[in-house]
Amino acid sequence: MAAESNVNRRTFIQVSTAAVAGGLVSQDVLAGPAAASERASAGRRPVVISSANGLAAVAEAMRQLNSGADPLDAVIEGVVKVEDDPNDTSVGLGGLPNEDGVVELDASCMHGPTHKAGGVAALRNIRNPSKVARLVMQRTDHVLIVGEGALRFAKAHGFMEENLLTDASREIWLRWKESLSKDDDWLEPGEWNGGGKGAANPAAIPFTYGTINCCAVDAKGDIAGVTTTSGLSYKIPGRVGDSPIIGAGLYVDNKVGAAGSTGRGEANLQNCSSFQIVDEMRRGNSPEEACRIVLERIVEHTESRLRKKNGRPDYDLKFYAVSKTGEYAAASLWSGAKFAVHDGAQAKLEDMHYLYKAE
Ligand code: GLY
Repeated sequence: MAAESNVNRRTFIQVSTAAVAGGLVSQDVLAGPAAASERASAGRRPVVISSANGLAAVAEAMRQLNSGADPLDAVIEGVVKVEDDPNDTSVGLGGLPNEDGVVELDASCMHGPTHKAGGVAALRNIRNPSKVARLVMQRTDHVLIVGEGALRFAKAHGFMEENLLTDASREIWLRWKESLSKDDDWLEPGEWNGGGKGAANPAAIPFTYGTINCCAVDAKGDIAGVTTTSGLSYKIPGRVGDSPIIGAGLYVDNKVGAAGSTGRGEANLQNCSSFQIVDEMRRGNSPEEACRIVLERIVEHTESRLRKKNGRPDYDLKFYAVSKTGEYAAASLWSGAKFAVHDGAQAKLEDMHYLYKAE
């Protein structure tokens, strides 16, 4: 692991240098906390960062910030664009369902200026769990409401129930069900009239963990974040991932920064990664260093059944981090991923840092 870490550190640095050369990351990231605080006193531009499916979210959140919105309202208006999009099968309407074909949503939000947080988990039939999470924060003394209670809470606040399963996500779920086994009663298309069983291989329809995280720091340095998801596809009903858990799928400290995650929630839940990333930034690490440190810890803690033959994790996990001074970074275990950012000038996708080159 130690030798790998040296290589990986170099990879992170290479990406940073390229990003700085392209004007994508502040020089402060490489120059360290002293330069960062100089930049802070020189004034800030708002920054919004998100997962790769959040290009529309960062654009909307920045529009909101520029209109004077609170950063939490800004990021929630941003992710609502994705929750409402039936073509994103990882969030809200059209999200992939649990093993019974029912869409169950998780979300959390956190507001830096008040250090308040709210979340919902295993919420059915409501397309905007991010808005319900904000109401848990604003209208209750609780942080997390789940399942039937979350649905009743949402309906009490006027949310309308609807079937979140689109034809497209239902078809994907059906293909997953049909391909689980050659020995069950589910036939694949074409099999009924003499065609072969086809793939009949669970690996043919992989599980997915798609999610959107969106964090923002406004021109005053106030910070907020939100994470919202349909969670692990075809999950056991009632399974809750990292997204609604404060400290795992999202964490905000208004004096330091924010972090959020997408990817394998179980690995994140076992490491409270978003809290750890913010804590590493509190110690003076840049967002990219903080992400790298926590990714390396997750690798160390990965159980053997989840490792490839060469010892590396057989899953992916991605982190997004922004500091109070507007420095930002995103990092994943594996190369090839992108993230969305609005740096005050434009919404764009950038390459993520990574520990391992995709094999
Ligand atoms: N990170 C999303 C999930 O595991 O549910």
